Amino acid sequence: MDNIFHLISTVSTNEDAYGLALKGAEHGTAVLADAQHGGKGRLGREWASPPGTGLYCSIVIRPNLPFPEFPKLTLTAGLALCTVIERLVPTVPFGLKWPNDLYCNGRKAGGILVESSSPLGDGDPFAVVGVGVNVNTRSDDFPVGLREKGTSLLMESGNSLDIYKLFEKLHVSLLGHIGVHEQQDGFAEILKEWRKRDLLLGKEMQWLTSDKKVIVGRGMGPDGNGQLLARDREGKVHEILSGDVQLFESDQGK
Ligand code: BTN
Repeated sequence: MDNIFHLISTVSTNEDAYGLALKGAEHGTAVLADAQHGGKGRLGREWASPPGTGLYCSIVIRPNLPFPEFPKLTLTAGLALCTVIERLVPTVPFGLKWPNDLYCNGRKAGGILVESSSPLGDGDPFAVVGVGVNVNTRSDDFPVGLREKGTSLLMESGNSLDIYKLFEKLHVSLLGHIGVHEQQDGFAEILKEWRKRDLLLGKEMQWLTSDKKVIVGRGMGPDGNGQLLARDREGKVHEILSGDVQLFESDQGK
């Protein structure tokens, strides 16, 4: 594939791919790096990217979708990732934590960061789908603060994987899932599969509202727009737009 850029090290593959997209890079163009020294996660967090242990890649997509559909791409990308990992590591239970996390046995194994072009910008709209997966990461490779929360495909299965082969499969899967999303009622099909892997469904969890109130409720799964619904202890249904949702201790890892 001639639109794949494989770097030894970079600041952030999302930044590289975004720059290429601004210069007109085509649908499917990808940047992959063996290490990042400024890897970005959602909500301004850092994504630890030690050399040679994880998959760090970003794929430019130019979906045939109206711009308001773009926020749903995080769920589509999560499903594309989860289905690939399930096939490669079939003995281990993986699931998705809304909106963008790949989890296994109560610990995070991967995440998605989608960054879209500005709706006001010139040119065709695009999105960059950044994917980070802890592949051959060992406990000691994680920053101390993440050792209790993070896991890797190696730690869960006992087997190491070829990171480039995983990337190739993910690339095919992502473009395929975007193709499904683009079809009439395609996102409904994506959601049907996503919900089968929903780790928050029926679980007690807490989240912060936009006015910084902590609410406790049970996950009801994403609605047709990809927003998470949850029922609080008084029975009121809330739509969670973004931000961080945390499982209660007793529900961790189930
Ligand atoms: C998250 O879980 O918050 C999202 C993590 C996304 C990390 C990936 S690694 C490749 C790409 N480049 C980045 O800087 N971030 C994404």
